[in-house]
Amino acid sequence: MSVYETVQKRRSIRRFKQKKIPLIILRKIVDSARMGPSARNLQPWEFIIIDSPELVKAVFEHTNWAGYLPKEQGKPSPEQAPVAFIAVLKNERFQSKWSNHDIGAAVENMILVALEEGIGSCWIASVTREPVMELLNIPAGYEIDSVLALGYADEEPIAFDLDESVKYFRDEYGRLHVPKRTMESVISHNKFGQR
Ligand SMILES: Cc1cc2nc3c(=O)[nH]c(=O)nc-3n(C[C@H](O)[C@H](O)[C@H](O)COP(=O)(O)O)c2cc1C
Repeated sequence: MSVYETVQKRRSIRRFKQKKIPLIILRKIVDSARMGPSARNLQPWEFIIIDSPELVKAVFEHTNWAGYLPKEQGKPSPEQAPVAFIAVLKNERFQSKWSNHDIGAAVENMILVALEEGIGSCWIASVTREPVMELLNIPAGYEIDSVLALGYADEEPIAFDLDESVKYFRDEYGRLHVPKRTMESVISHNKFGQR
């Protein structure tokens, strides 16, 4: 799969098979974050791989899923919950005004490399941070930016051209449809507004 194909295929996955991800693959995913670009090469990140079933379950309880959907359609049931998380930490010692950009690039690297390995993911910023800080023994000087939920996909969301609303929805079969702004609506050529 080319990078372009991976990018086109990538959708946030919120239904997972209950199959363990080998630790070596989780480490490869973090390795791809580590190599991302960062302003002033500050690399303001650290990562925690969480794959112990008890901890995954505990972290899962503090995550919020698919805010546009009714609750039962958003958060996965325990039978389709993620099997691992990667917590993305900001190290306060290495911050700049561009740190959020750096973290974003690192997380996208992880999402794409995970997909190349056949693993689906959902980037979750809506985390109740305090209990998760405690669960993971995160010391002062670090902040949880977000967590990446991971697992082999048990759904196949589909993108479609956005018409009116940015809200994704599930159809009668439970398939997630995700609106994306069209090329024509986001692109100019040479000067703004020239199509
Ligand atoms: C910074 C960021 C934070 C996100 N936080 C959440 C979240 O807390 N819960 C969730 O279910 N999805 C979350 N998402 C996933 C978005 O809902 C998803 O990317 C969007 O609906 C587009 O769908 P797609 O990823 O399939 O293209 C987040 C995405 C980004 C980039």
